[in-house]
Formats: sequence, C-alpha cells, structure tokens
Amino acid sequence: MSRNIYGLDLGSYEIKVYDKKQKTIWREKNAIAFADEKEIFAVGDEAYEMYGKTPDHIRVVFPMKEGVISGITDMQYLLQNLLKRGHQFAYGSEYVIAVPTDVTELEKRAFCDLVLHSTARAKSVRIVARGIADAVGAGIAVEREPGIFLVNFGASTMELSVLSYGGIVLNRLLKIGGMHLDREIIQLVKNRYQILISGRTAEFLRKEAGLFPNRQESIYQVPCKKLGTGLPKYKEIPGTLVKTALREPLSDCVKEMTALLKRTPPEVRQAIEQKGIFLTGGMASLSGLDRYLSHAGGWKVTVANQPAICAVRGLEKIIHNKNLHKLTYEMSVENDRWIR
Ligand SMILES: Nc1ncnc2c1ncn2[C@@H]1O[C@H](COP(=O)(O)OP(=O)(O)OP(=O)(O)O)[C@@H](O)[C@H]1O
Ligand SMILES: [Mg+2]
Repeated sequence: MSRNIYGLDLGSYEIKVYDKKQKTIWREKNAIAFADEKEIFAVGDEAYEMYGKTPDHIRVVFPMKEGVISGITDMQYLLQNLLKRGHQFAYGSEYVIAVPTDVTELEKRAFCDLVLHSTARAKSVRIVARGIADAVGAGIAVEREPGIFLVNFGASTMELSVLSYGGIVLNRLLKIGGMHLDREIIQLVKNRYQILISGRTAEFLRKEAGLFPNRQESIYQVPCKKLGTGLPKYKEIPGTLVKTALREPLSDCVKEMTALLKRTPPEVRQAIEQKGIFLTGGMASLSGLDRYLSHAGGWKVTVANQPAICAVRGLEKIIHNKNLHKLTYEMSVENDRWIR
C-alpha cells in the first residue's frame, strides 16, 4: 500500500479517521476486550458491544481517559488490531492529528508517538488544536473571524475554545462528558429503585429521553440487576428521572462556559455575542441540549452538522486546502508554541 495522508481525531469513546486516498471517514469505538487479562478478545465496535455484558473473565478497557491517552500500549494494540481487520494505515504515511489544547506537553506528544513509534511508522506528524479543526469542520472561516466560541462536548470531556483570527485565545478541557452523565443516571436509578443498570443502558436512556420535557413523557423498560441479590430483571424507568439526573452536571457546564466568556477580551466577546456558540462533539446530538443552553445561558446556539465528526471533517479540509496548512504545527521539543 503506497503512502497516504490521514487525519486523526482520537476520542475516549470513538476514533475518527479521515483517509485521503479512499476519501472516506471511518469511525470505531475506542475499546478493547481482553480475555483472562492479556489475550485480545475483541476490538473497536465489537468490544464496545460487550461492555457491561461480559462474563467475569472478559474485561473491556478504554485506552483513553478524559481526552488523553492513558494506556499507550493498549491504544497501539487497538490500532494495530483494527488495521488487521481492514482499516489500514499505509506504512510511512503523513498524519494530521487533532489534539486538545488544555493538556500537558507530554500528553500532546503521546498522540504523535502513537503513530511515530508503532507499526504505522509515520513519515511526518502535524498537529492542530481540536478547537480549530472543529471550527474549520463547522464551515467557519477561522482566520477571518474576530471571535468564535466553540464547545466540543464528547464522551468524557467538554472542550471550550475561544478563537480569534485563526488562533486560540482561551481554552479549557473540562472532565465532563456523556459517560459522566451516564454515571449520574446509574446513581439516581440505584438510589431510587435499588437496582443496577449498565453504562450501556444509561447511555440508551440518555439518548432516548433527551433533555427537554415532552408533553407526554415516555417510560423505558430496561434490563437491570437487583441490588443485594444480583438477580436480573426488567424495570420501567420514566424519562423524567433521566432528565433530573442530567440537570446538575449540565448546570455546572453552563457555569464554566459563563466563566470563560467573562475572561474573554471585550472585542472578542462582542463578536461572540453576535455569532453565538457553536456546539460540536457527539453530545451535541443530545436532543434538547441546544435549547437548554440557550435558556440557561441566554446564548444563541448552533449545532454543527454531524457534530461527532466535525473535527475530523475539519482535518479533511485542512489536508486538502494548502491555505489551511498554517493552522497545523509540527511537534518538536524546541517548539514551545504549545506550552501554556
Ligand atoms: N444522538 C445522540 N444523543 C445523545 N448522545 C449522543 C448521541 N450520539 C452520540 N452521543 C454521545 O456522544 C458521546 C460521544 O461523542 P464523541 O464521539 O464526540 O466523543 P469522543 O470524541 O470519543 O470523546 P472525548 O472527546 O470526550 O474524548 C457519547 O457519550 C455518546 O453517548
Ligand atoms: Mg472528542
């Protein structure tokens, strides 16, 4: 296979890859299932399917936590095994990787090391701040805009970026995402009914119930285990309970967004007040989230088209458009532009 260019947006929940030669974006869950602690049993979507359902000897692991690579060996395992199944990185290719800004230099390096020091043997790696990649993906002319506020709401992080004329003015990576909201649902259901539901079930409930009250509130029948006895059964959970669980963590998000806007220089803030807030990341698809944010914060909110793949679509545009190459950096020890 001859050399190629790839755009990578690695998330705690899902890996998104743009393949220039194939002109496609592929997505796979960022999960590995190990049998007896060491043997790989399944990878990607297949491993995620087993999450919360596996017998004791199978363990599902997520190699990324809170937006950074927490297990580089697991992550390399995962990529190599996905490659064997047809998602291939051509040897010696070029990579453009979207990375979070509000993390350490070492954590940023890990994204590059992943393709430089693995079987992929990258020829070159360039990085771009995810906030910038997202803005490009959302169709924003980043270099011309005096003020943009973009929120990438993923599975384990919420990244807030204030951009101006193609650069990052402020950035915060909050450790809150869909998986945290799911834990709140699990906890509330446990307290209310003395039953245990899985992370997968909580995710299902969150996606189905959404945020805004419906005139006729639905009830969902879900599998669970009785606390104490561990006996499996089914239980009916009202949509209103799900919404209650989401309320507090989301109001914390609004507080963080407000605080960041307060720290934004006035001329940039003025432009943001006109344009509103852009929402990307998988959680932007949570039904009613845009309405909730505009109610709670008083902002105009725009959800990007196909929000989960907005950043990787930005990478696609950057790879194809030479004028956008200056938004990327080569990561080297001397380069201190990334040290905050
Ligand atoms: N239609 C939907 N409704 C509600 N939530 C959704 C929907 N689609 C995806 N999600 C949620 O979005 C999250 C995944 O988003 P995304 O792919 O942006 O995360 P990620 O990039 O892997 O994570 P991170 O950026 O935090 O490392 C999951 O928690 C998933 O449940
Ligand atoms: Mg993400």
